[in-house]
Amino acid sequence: MNFGSIQEAMKQGKGKVALHGWCYRERGSNKLRFITLRDSSNIIQCVVEKEKVSEKIWKDAESTRIETALELHGEIKKDERAPTGYEVAVTDLKIIGKCENFPIQKDQSVEFLADNRHLWLRSRRMTAILKIRSTIFGAVHQYFRSHGFYEYQSPIFQPTQAEGGSEVFKVPYFGDFVFLAQTWQLQAEPAIFSLEKIYTLAPSFRAEKSKTSRHLTEYWHAEMEMAWSKFEDIQDHAEGVIKACVKAFYMKEDPENSKVVLGFDIIAPEGYGEVVGASQREEDIQKIEDNLKKQGENPREYDFYLDTRRYGSVPHGGFGMGVERIVSWICGLDNIKDAIAFPRTMLRYKP
Ligand code: 4AD
Repeated sequence: MNFGSIQEAMKQGKGKVALHGWCYRERGSNKLRFITLRDSSNIIQCVVEKEKVSEKIWKDAESTRIETALELHGEIKKDERAPTGYEVAVTDLKIIGKCENFPIQKDQSVEFLADNRHLWLRSRRMTAILKIRSTIFGAVHQYFRSHGFYEYQSPIFQPTQAEGGSEVFKVPYFGDFVFLAQTWQLQAEPAIFSLEKIYTLAPSFRAEKSKTSRHLTEYWHAEMEMAWSKFEDIQDHAEGVIKACVKAFYMKEDPENSKVVLGFDIIAPEGYGEVVGASQREEDIQKIEDNLKKQGENPREYDFYLDTRRYGSVPHGGFGMGVERIVSWICGLDNIKDAIAFPRTMLRYKP
């Protein structure tokens, strides 16, 4: 029998099922063991009765601890008392990966959970958030592709900074220095002369000396750039992509965890900070050069970029959307750190 997910088994509702996953919690007596199994889809209570299974199966059931990896077969049926409304009467059970003394237990400090992030990812909270994150990434791609945008990639190593010198990471580069991309913009604008409408979903880096709940030093940036645009077009697309991200999918994914979602009438700027930075681009080369000089930059370093204004410039604009801020807002998170698997901040770059 092929292994299916817990969610599929619950949909099936009755009859034989084969499941594999990890022990979420366990309890019982010397005659009966209740093992709650979890997989990426859900959790389900599984019952092993000593009388009804072989000695080997009973021994495995008895030595099952939190996060032990298991394969099991059994009969599923509705049971209102069980945590997710179904129960599996186990006929066969096998330990695939032992686990003793899983470090994460109830009521541990935020710092401890951050140190053990690689294990905390298994929590139902992080599983729910990561699923929502995955859906948001899918929605961004779908939105832009269905509106005629090409996916385009710009380099992470950049010769110049784009969004403010104090927040740029400078890294050694074979006897010279380069900057980690804060935005794709300077290498994206040249590509609209080729593809006209482009977007990306890529990491951006900000050396933010900020310890707020809204700032990461490495975050995922959805950016678009568009030729022949009016400012309103950029606004419409910013609105469009946010709407595409908030399609009520979260409830469907995991109704039990809907408490991590506050609701859609919260406007992102209220507490979740700016989610989109957008502009119609300046076309006047002189003004751009003056601005660069005012910021203490040498315009000649930006010649590759200024060429976009020299050779056949057109009205254009674009925006960048911080994906983790969107995830935080949709999930109602207290801190942006939970919106990404391994957050990087001023104070943390491990594990
Ligand atoms: O407003 P920003 O700095 O705009 C740009 O980078 C433009 N060049 C984008 C463009 O026009 N292509 O950043 C865009 C968005 C912000 O609105 C915010 O959502 C997010 O990026 N952001 C951060 N997210 C998490 N942590 C940080 N430190 C962030 N800094 C910016």
